[in-house]
Amino acid sequence: MLRRGMFFAHRDFSAILDRKEQGKPFFLYTGRGASSGSLHLGHLVPFMFTKWLQEVFDVPLIIQMTDDEKFLWKDLKVDEAKKMAKENMKDIISVGFDPEKTFIFNNLDYMCPPFYENVVKIWKIVNANQARSIFGFSPEDCIGKGAFPAIQAAPSFASSFPHIFGKRNDIPCLIPCAIDQDPYFRMTRDVAPRLKAAKPCLIFSSFLPALQGAQTKMNASEPNTCIYLSDTPKQIKNKINKYAFSGGQQTVEEHRAKGGNCDVDISYQFLKFFLEDDEKLAEIREKYTKGELLSGELKALATVEVNRVVGEMQERRKKVTDEDVELFSKVRPLAFKF
Ligand code: TRP
Repeated sequence: MLRRGMFFAHRDFSAILDRKEQGKPFFLYTGRGASSGSLHLGHLVPFMFTKWLQEVFDVPLIIQMTDDEKFLWKDLKVDEAKKMAKENMKDIISVGFDPEKTFIFNNLDYMCPPFYENVVKIWKIVNANQARSIFGFSPEDCIGKGAFPAIQAAPSFASSFPHIFGKRNDIPCLIPCAIDQDPYFRMTRDVAPRLKAAKPCLIFSSFLPALQGAQTKMNASEPNTCIYLSDTPKQIKNKINKYAFSGGQQTVEEHRAKGGNCDVDISYQFLKFFLEDDEKLAEIREKYTKGELLSGELKALATVEVNRVVGEMQERRKKVTDEDVELFSKVRPLAFKF
């Protein structure tokens, strides 16, 4: 994903690499606001990348589940928001994170004095005008929406997790996330010096496009735009065949003559995200562009790859229990000393 430019932008990533080289501590922080019972393929992208970062960096990982955010933004009861967060935690655990090195929490259960202290400190520094220009709130929005960004910002500071970092507030984090989360962390980076805390560093992914086309993104509330991690192989095949936007030509003759356009073709985009083998991907691109490979054949290749990724997730998901959720979300030290 890094090689292919799926992760395409960053803030201060080089500072994190320097710390790695110098053996200085840092941690990873990412999150998820659960608005459906199951993750979709697009949600998986930052988490797969985060798992790889955890392996190569060998540092603590913090994952925030924003059930409070979804309660405020969506038509959900508190219990429903919490329940979705718990279900999504199981999907996230299935990505394969190491329980000795990962703390997953939902805001409504974890909010504790040190975390809340950071939240009120941020509230005091950012005024309503600034928040409105960053997030675009309107005067009719409930005041909870205006208050929420501080709650997503606070886990960037090590002092929100005394059971992991003790009293230290000089340990920076690296936040792998999709580009739409940047406003939260621009705000966080602005306030960090005034809290005498380290600024978070970031690395951003683009969106996995929706089935409908390259300029769209998967929407968990619209089943035909996305592939859920709970879809069956048959559903996945049907969705790709029926909905995946094709960069191919109208007829086979025309396609053989003019070739297809990979840049707008969703099946190709899926392969670009999930097919590991660079040579094979290049070969597919060349053949499709020349018209040697047909649209249906490209869809079949994408179906195999998506089914592999989803199938592997489902195998692991079957084994994740309520006890595992408890294990990951228990307030405890991780396998690192600070
Ligand atoms: N707001 C994010 C969402 O709706 C959830 C989130 C919380 C998050 N903390 C984060 C995402 C940190 C990325 C990084 O999905």
